[in-house]
Amino acid sequence: MLIILLGPPGAGKGTQADRLVKKYNLVYIATGDILRAAVKSGSPLGQEAKAFMEKGQLVPDEVVVGIVSERLTAPDCRDGAILDGFPRTVAQAEALDQVLGEMGRKVDRVVYIAVDEDELITRLTGRRVCRECAATYHIKFNPPRVRNVCDQCGGELYQREDDSLSTVQERLLVYREQTTPLIDHYGREGLVSKVDGNREIEKIFSEISSILGAGSP
Ligand code: AP5
Ligand code: MG
Ligand code: ZN
Repeated sequence: MLIILLGPPGAGKGTQADRLVKKYNLVYIATGDILRAAVKSGSPLGQEAKAFMEKGQLVPDEVVVGIVSERLTAPDCRDGAILDGFPRTVAQAEALDQVLGEMGRKVDRVVYIAVDEDELITRLTGRRVCRECAATYHIKFNPPRVRNVCDQCGGELYQREDDSLSTVQERLLVYREQTTPLIDHYGREGLVSKVDGNREIEKIFSEISSILGAGSP
């Protein structure tokens, strides 16, 4: 099963994906996490991506399409994957269709998590992320047991560089202009399930689970 999580910055894509991969035993492919790891390691990919990410702009399509195509053709993705943060332009969606088509596969469902803009800003500016395992917290809505320490691995928590208010505003603009057309793109194929993301994390998770069906699909 191939699932796309679509939604604005701060919608809770990573938060829900974390739960979904465990329940459905799917491979998790988050382009933001892959790019941040590349920036941290200083690889050529990271050097190319860094300036775009700091400004809240998208990394060029051909770069991310290359990353995802390579990942999706790996043997462990045969039984399915969750894509978080990809595709986010129509060009990326078309490239994905082509790669999947060549493998005789297709997108099974697009879960669109919709959240009000004021709420997104509160979520992003209060987010904290584990340096070691990338687990996500929120200082108010989802705090760790010990301040600045990851519950899962004991790693140190930090604030993402692109979570400052000015960069968040740029990311929201980029999302509106470049990513929202995907709702229609996949909607025309009848693939979109819209979920109200303005609720508690567990309520959203149970709605997504009922959309995807019980057990290992
Ligand atoms: P990426 O890492 O994908 O960032 P994003 O899309 O902006 O999404 P976020 O990770 O900010 O939000 P999320 O929906 O995962 O929310 P989360 O679960 O953390 O991309 C970063 C950058 O990389 C891009 O700007 C771009 O430069 C580049 N990039 C990545 N993919 C690309 C692509 N395909 N093409 C080109 N460039 C690309 O939750 C947010 C906060 O809210 C957390 O604190 C969480 O604890 C809290 N929270 C979650 N759910 C709830 C809830 N229900 N109630 C209350 N709080 C909640
Ligand atoms: Mg995320
Ligand atoms: Zn951790």
